[in-house]
Amino acid sequence: MSLLEGSVEVGDMVLLEPLNEKSLLKNLEKRFQNKEIYTYIGNVVISVNPYQQLPIFGPEFIEKYKEYNFYELKPHIYALANQAYQSLKDHDRDQCVIISGESGSGKTEASKLVMSYVAAVCEKGEQVNSVKEQLLQSNPVLEAFGNAKTIRNNNSSRFGKYMDIEFDFKGSPLGGVITNYLLEKSRVVKHIKGERNFHIFYQLLAGADAQLLKALRLEQDGSSYSYLNFEVSRVDGMDDAANFRAVQNAMNIIGFSTEEIQKILEVIAIVLKLGNVELGDEFQANGVAGSTIHDGKVIKEISDLMGLQAEMLERALCSRTMETNKEKVVTNLNKIQACYARDALAKNIYSRLFNWIVNRINENIKVNDSTKKKVMGVLDIYGFEILENNSFEQFVINYCNEKLQQVFIEMTLKEEQEEYKKEGIPWDNIEYFDNRIICNLIEHNQQGILAMLDEECLRPGMVSDSTFLAKLNQMFSKHNYYESRVTQNAQHQHDPSLGLSCFRILHYAGKVTYNVNGFMDKNNDLLFRDLSQALWSSKHSLLRALFPEGDPKHASLKRPPTAGTQFKNSIATLMKNLYSKNPNYIRCIKPNEHQQQSVFSSELVGNQARYLGLLENVRVRRAGYAYRQVYKSFLERYRMLSQATWPQWRGQDREGIEKILGELSLGSGEFAFGRTKIFIRSPKTLFYLEEKRRIRIHQLAILIQKMYRGWRCRTNYQLMRKSQILISAWFRGNTQKKLYGRIKASTLLIQAFVRGWKTRKEYRKYFRSGAALQLANFIYRRMAQKFLLDLSKNLPSKVINYKWPPPPYKTFTLVNQELKIIFHHWKCKKYRDQLSPQKKEALKEKLCASELFKDKKASYPQSVPMPFRGDYVMLREKPKLQQTAANGPVLMAETVNKVNRANGKMVPRILLLTKSHMILADTKGSKVKTVIGLENVSGVSVSSFKNGLFGLHLTEISSVGTKGDFLLVSEHVIELLTKLYQATLDKMKKQLPITVTEEFTMKFKEGKMSVRVIQSQNSNEGNQVSCKKKGSDKLEVFAQ
Ligand SMILES: Nc1ncnc2c1ncn2[C@@H]1O[C@H](COP(=O)(O)OP(=O)(O)O)[C@@H](O)[C@H]1O
Ligand SMILES: [Mg+2]
Repeated sequence: MSLLEGSVEVGDMVLLEPLNEKSLLKNLEKRFQNKEIYTYIGNVVISVNPYQQLPIFGPEFIEKYKEYNFYELKPHIYALANQAYQSLKDHDRDQCVIISGESGSGKTEASKLVMSYVAAVCEKGEQVNSVKEQLLQSNPVLEAFGNAKTIRNNNSSRFGKYMDIEFDFKGSPLGGVITNYLLEKSRVVKHIKGERNFHIFYQLLAGADAQLLKALRLEQDGSSYSYLNFEVSRVDGMDDAANFRAVQNAMNIIGFSTEEIQKILEVIAIVLKLGNVELGDEFQANGVAGSTIHDGKVIKEISDLMGLQAEMLERALCSRTMETNKEKVVTNLNKIQACYARDALAKNIYSRLFNWIVNRINENIKVNDSTKKKVMGVLDIYGFEILENNSFEQFVINYCNEKLQQVFIEMTLKEEQEEYKKEGIPWDNIEYFDNRIICNLIEHNQQGILAMLDEECLRPGMVSDSTFLAKLNQMFSKHNYYESRVTQNAQHQHDPSLGLSCFRILHYAGKVTYNVNGFMDKNNDLLFRDLSQALWSSKHSLLRALFPEGDPKHASLKRPPTAGTQFKNSIATLMKNLYSKNPNYIRCIKPNEHQQQSVFSSELVGNQARYLGLLENVRVRRAGYAYRQVYKSFLERYRMLSQATWPQWRGQDREGIEKILGELSLGSGEFAFGRTKIFIRSPKTLFYLEEKRRIRIHQLAILIQKMYRGWRCRTNYQLMRKSQILISAWFRGNTQKKLYGRIKASTLLIQAFVRGWKTRKEYRKYFRSGAALQLANFIYRRMAQKFLLDLSKNLPSKVINYKWPPPPYKTFTLVNQELKIIFHHWKCKKYRDQLSPQKKEALKEKLCASELFKDKKASYPQSVPMPFRGDYVMLREKPKLQQTAANGPVLMAETVNKVNRANGKMVPRILLLTKSHMILADTKGSKVKTVIGLENVSGVSVSSFKNGLFGLHLTEISSVGTKGDFLLVSEHVIELLTKLYQATLDKMKKQLPITVTEEFTMKFKEGKMSVRVIQSQNSNEGNQVSCKKKGSDKLEVFAQ
């Protein structure tokens, strides 16, 4: 039903609304401009010649159309071919495809499309392929011999062709029969300007090699042959040489032998050369005009090719033997008669050759077995012709088309009528033009034009074309479809376009004026017996076979049937043949006269549409109901329009449709229910249904999409969910299993350890393994015990005894060291604990002395064992001195020497040191000489030698200090200075600076004086110190 969808305008003109000639043409034109060259009228295909290659043919398209029914795809010849083939195969109905149309409208191309479609879809197999190949290859051969360039068509078929293809029950082609009709043989000797002779002549000259040409006694140059129109020896887009090879190849495939091909070419050469036989007048002795052949060379060559004596041929061409029952009379032909005879010979040879070729092809492709076969006929026959000058040929061609129109009307009408009857729908009569009356006018057995032509040809006496016309005028003076000057005159009409020697027939397709000149000759189709006899006697086997009537044994005086009768009979046979089959129509239309693409002449197409009766065709088809469809398909297509029938309808198809249409509330007259089909009255209703369907399908598509998406998501989700559950189950199981395994292994390990431990513990006592450790412990303890006991016996008794027994074993070295330190500390502590406070005090002083002088002063070591007595002057016995120091206990009392600063002489003095003062007193009277507050002592300088000299530095601001520092010598200088240091520390909380040096500076009232202590070498002097003044400010002291 794709012709209802997405097509330009309407694909089926049955659906045209409104229906008239204008809309019909508009529809065709619009479709044509959109390259939609095919349009249906029901099941008739209208084909408009595109004059360009369209991309709608070829194997893919054949595949597509094979799959679908007639209305499911765009209109196409393939759809028609498919329907015919399927119907032939499945319903066992013989088919015929009737292709009609003007010359150049595309009939032959259409017939090739049908054949190639059938060849492509039917069964494959080696034998089938060879049959198919033979059937297809018959085309180029027939086209070479039967086609020619005309003004309208570069490859116009000049014969009618009907081809029966026969199939077996499976639909495989078995073979075929070709019937040809009325080859336009006049073309052999004459054609109008701008046209050509049959292709084969040009192909032979262009394609044959030199050797072949020589053998055929031909020259390549076409202009030397008078039968060939050298003006248009070439046709655009046609390669004669290549086609010649293709023809030879095709003949080989069909089964022509090399010899046969050679013979055929020889005959072609003979025909060609016959045209060059020049005839001239020759007056005989009796004065009667005769004829003669000018150029003996040509006639010689022809005779050579024929295998005939030149004289015999010449005689046959120039004379005629009249024969009655009793005698033979030979008369000479004049030049005109001889030329006529020559041309008649050429035409006859050619047309007989053509028939012979067709028969020869049939011999090869015919099916030999006699079982019942299925047949598909393809009729490609010349279309209706209206030329400027119409003659006998046009007359018979148009007669043929009248007959075909009749088949068409009868078959479509009959079909339509039968369908209504079959479906039980009342049939209203349809007005249409029935052309039976015209057919009768031509073919009636006694009163038909053809019959009268025959009669006139056979009638003895003076007969001519004009006597024939007079007879017609008389016969059809009242006939509605016949006109001539005479009949017009009778009706007082005047039409100058109608010539005197013309008659006119009002064909269904239009008025055609025929000129009667030549009608009789052409109908007689006379070939003088001399010629046929001559040719029969030739040695050329093919020529002989072409002229069987030349055989004297078969010679009869009976005339052969006239051309008109022959044609009428063959048409009658054809009609019978067509009526017995299911017809399929392809109506070809020529869009313009100039073979141009995309040019659409409305006038020209209108004419053709008119005489093809397209409008009537649509009307017939639409009579009553425009559209019909079997219930099943209709329901299938529209069932979505009702809730009741969608998605499933379980009842009868018809009831379902009633439901749908009922819901749509269409007018009841809009449709009718037949037995198997639903009929719809107007296209509008169908379009309404289509529109509804389109909208509904859109909704349904969304619904289906929705459902499908939902379903897809749901199933996907469920699958995912199931998988997830499975995965987690496995995962959990696996984790637990692993954990359990680990716990189990650990438990076993712990168990094993515990058990082992318990058992070892239990059994340890029974084993010697512990003994070594115990022994070692024991020995080690013993060793330590012994070491400690020995040590205790050898401990040093005194604190200062540093001897310590060495360790008996290396292991004890460290502990021995530690013990030694600990013991020493302990011993020291013990010693300290038993000391009295006085002793402690004395030792503190000794410690202080050590800190001050150890390693600094040479007299220090001697002072160490000496206890610090403090009182070296017997103070208890000198109360005066005690009084001097009444303000505190005397820390030190000693007689010291004071060095006089003026001369360095020494003066003894008693020195008392209390907690706050240092007092210097006279030795004799104990008179206090100087009292120095300890706060005024700023420091002490002392030498490092053994002597007891020391400098007492006073602060400058003190009152005593004003006199200056003191240089003193003490026997117990260590003790004295230690005690002075401590007293100063106790009282002032400050450390007294005691400097050990050999040179120091004394400050006096008079100024400074530097003191230098020099160690005297003289050891005898004992503790003696001697000072020598050096200048006013230097003093040298010599001492040990
Ligand atoms: N379907 C087609 N596609 C393309 N060109 C076409 C088609 N049908 C016909 N023709 C052209 O028109 C020319 C005449 O077609 P043809 O079948 O010989 O016409 P007819 O047999 O009716 O005289 C062809 O030679 C070709 O060029
Ligand atoms: Mg043709």
